[in-house]
Amino acid sequence: MKPIQWFPGHMNKTRRLIKENLTKVDVVIEILDARAPESSRNPIMDELTGSKPRLVVLNKADLADPAVTDKWMAYYGEERSRQLPVAVSSKTGENLKVIAKGCRQLCEGAKWIERRPVRAMIVGIPNVGKSTVINTLAGRKKAAVGNKPGVTRDMQRLNISDSLQIYDTPGILWPKFEDQAIGFKLALLGSIKDTILLLDEISMKGLEYMTIKYPERIKERYKLEELPADPLELIELIGRKRGCLVSGGDIDYEKAVNIFLIDLRQGMLGRFSLESPGEEGGIFTGERQ
Ligand code: G4P
Repeated sequence: MKPIQWFPGHMNKTRRLIKENLTKVDVVIEILDARAPESSRNPIMDELTGSKPRLVVLNKADLADPAVTDKWMAYYGEERSRQLPVAVSSKTGENLKVIAKGCRQLCEGAKWIERRPVRAMIVGIPNVGKSTVINTLAGRKKAAVGNKPGVTRDMQRLNISDSLQIYDTPGILWPKFEDQAIGFKLALLGSIKDTILLLDEISMKGLEYMTIKYPERIKERYKLEELPADPLELIELIGRKRGCLVSGGDIDYEKAVNIFLIDLRQGMLGRFSLESPGEEGGIFTGERQ
């Protein structure tokens, strides 16, 4: 994954092109990461899409905590009119049919609905799964879209079914930059380049979060009877269990932290969500003591 550099010029151009392309579609398909939907949301979505019907796709639902995804579904269902949430896994193809169905539902009552397919455009920040959704919907491997900012003018529409057409190139948007908690969550999920932020600090926050929300998983994975309140002590225990030692018998913290991070990202700690509706940044906010 290459880091994206978003400059004000890029952002203005993207904003302009997306607005231009939006006039050609009936529905916007906004792709979010189900594990952190608000953090993976572009900050100016409402301004960009205006009153255009919007399908909010909670993608990677296979990795997220199903109980929390249900809460997000209810939340986005009530958030604004002409918005419909759906939860899918584009990697497994699970439930992807709800995308075409949802787009149609959002256009119910339109004069043209019996005459032509619904036209939709996919938008979202990098790594939420836009290309995977397009490829899986299209049923064939398309060229990798890459992570260049913005959208191109000469996009093609793909016929997904008799009832749905989508643009073959998604609109790549920027995440919310200003909030550190959001950066932490996206980095933990591997959605923004690790080197931008301090990975060990992010991982420690992640470990703290998982210990609070899913303590049994941590105990089970690292074969621990009890979990110490101090995350540093916990990482030390994990390091000992996993033999992350440097000469003299001290713990190799970096290695131990990395084990946790890989486990988290590879799903070894089970399905999890990093935020729930109405919850502030929580432990992801502020400095670690
Ligand atoms: P983007 O266009 O929005 O930038 O995202 P892209 O489709 O490239 O997906 C980013 C990563 O997320 C990919 O993994 C992709 O396989 C994975 N992904 C997308 N949708 C889902 C989903 O619903 N469930 C799961 N579990 N993973 C999903 P990668 O590691 O970058 O590549 P690879 O593993 O596919 O080789």
